[in-house]
Amino acid sequence: MKEQTEQKTKIAAFVCNWCSYAGADAAGTSRLQYDDSVWIVRFPCTGRIDPLFIIKAFEQGVDGVLVSGCHPGDCHYATGNLFARRRFTIFRTLMLFLGLDERRLQFSWVSAAEGAKWASVVNTVAGAVKELNGEPFTWAIPMPLRGAIGASDGEAVQTLRENIKAIEQTHRFTFGDQMIETREAAMTEELRLRAKQLLEAGEVNAVLGYANGTLPRTAIPLFALSLEATDQLVWNRHCRTNLAVYLARPLVRKLGKLAVVVKPCDAKAVLGLLQEHQVQRENVHLIGMACTGVEERGAIAPKCLSCTQRMPDLFDTKIGTAQEQPATRGNPIDETVRLLDNASPQERWNFWQEEFSRCIRCYACRAVCPFCYCETCITDKHRPQWITPSARSEGTMAWNIVRAAHLAGRCVGCNECARVCPANIRLDLLNRKIALEIKNEFDYEAGQSVESAPPLVAYRPDDSQEFIR
Ligand code: FES
Repeated sequence: MKEQTEQKTKIAAFVCNWCSYAGADAAGTSRLQYDDSVWIVRFPCTGRIDPLFIIKAFEQGVDGVLVSGCHPGDCHYATGNLFARRRFTIFRTLMLFLGLDERRLQFSWVSAAEGAKWASVVNTVAGAVKELNGEPFTWAIPMPLRGAIGASDGEAVQTLRENIKAIEQTHRFTFGDQMIETREAAMTEELRLRAKQLLEAGEVNAVLGYANGTLPRTAIPLFALSLEATDQLVWNRHCRTNLAVYLARPLVRKLGKLAVVVKPCDAKAVLGLLQEHQVQRENVHLIGMACTGVEERGAIAPKCLSCTQRMPDLFDTKIGTAQEQPATRGNPIDETVRLLDNASPQERWNFWQEEFSRCIRCYACRAVCPFCYCETCITDKHRPQWITPSARSEGTMAWNIVRAAHLAGRCVGCNECARVCPANIRLDLLNRKIALEIKNEFDYEAGQSVESAPPLVAYRPDDSQEFIR
């Protein structure tokens, strides 16, 4: 039985050519014995190891992944491993938050001279992964899911869900302020007037704002190209869409200079797009709105409860007067992240498999994200096809992980992805977990400054690396 289990174990070792591969070679030439469940894949540098390769390896059925490269300071390309270290820090956090057992994803620095260390790392990693193989590892979401999760695991996830619901209920607040409609009407008037002035003076070619939707309590994006069209502009608590999503689109760029209505979180996204050179500052005129929060499902949106920012940091025109900063009314998103952090890895894994099992791959989350602007998304590429495009479970896992990983250090927490998800998948929790880790590890918050380098295209020589052997 033991032999059978050992035979089944597969560990993918992603190693850099110059140190760890040479270290593995040194172990061989020194005739050191090490576990044969490791399959080596050679890369030019750890800097070339995209987390997508790790996802793909799990999808293809490996039981564990080991990533190994040169020690800091020894990289053949000087700093490839220092950039990689940051990427691995965040990717590992994401995977552990999803419930992957930490023994399944391990990292090491092994130099060309450390054949003995290579043998020892491989034996330790293989031993740890084999300990787990009593339970078969299912990457693909089993269908039907409920039958596949054991009764006690199912109960634990149910309890988790009830606790999440309790957090949502405790933090459910309605606007309740009778003055709000008067304030919104006054701001709408001020906005229309300013939009007319901008168009009349030829300062902009269009004003991107909101109009009333056809359904009650909705507002939809509006490109006002003429003076008459500005009379349709509105401002109210239903103006939820982050309009920054349009700015990097080729057709919108063709409009030339644009005035855009922004809430504080939208302005952060514009700032991110400026930082990533997707938008030129001289091509946008930001109309900053005094914000008291937006409404979702009849209550104040969870993201607005802990927000104390009443005016955007970045604007050219200001509409309305910033109200006094309110005391926060709790932070249900952070509370839920903590709740999941405190659950066991298996509970988290089951929770997220349940969440992702509802994904129909409509890509609404991608469509509303200001930072999903690639001409061809990785999910649409088929040479090679990294992520299966249909709603097959392996691809669904991969898509949701890749989406969150691609937003690391960029997501400004507008939570549009979670709001528009027709399956109510808690994508906001994944984004927030990564944002918290980035703040904690790299002291960086997205949407704060155009000049600062995004955290995953920078490094500090003393970045923490406790998780690397
Ligand atoms: Fe080994 Fe860069 S060459 S990590």
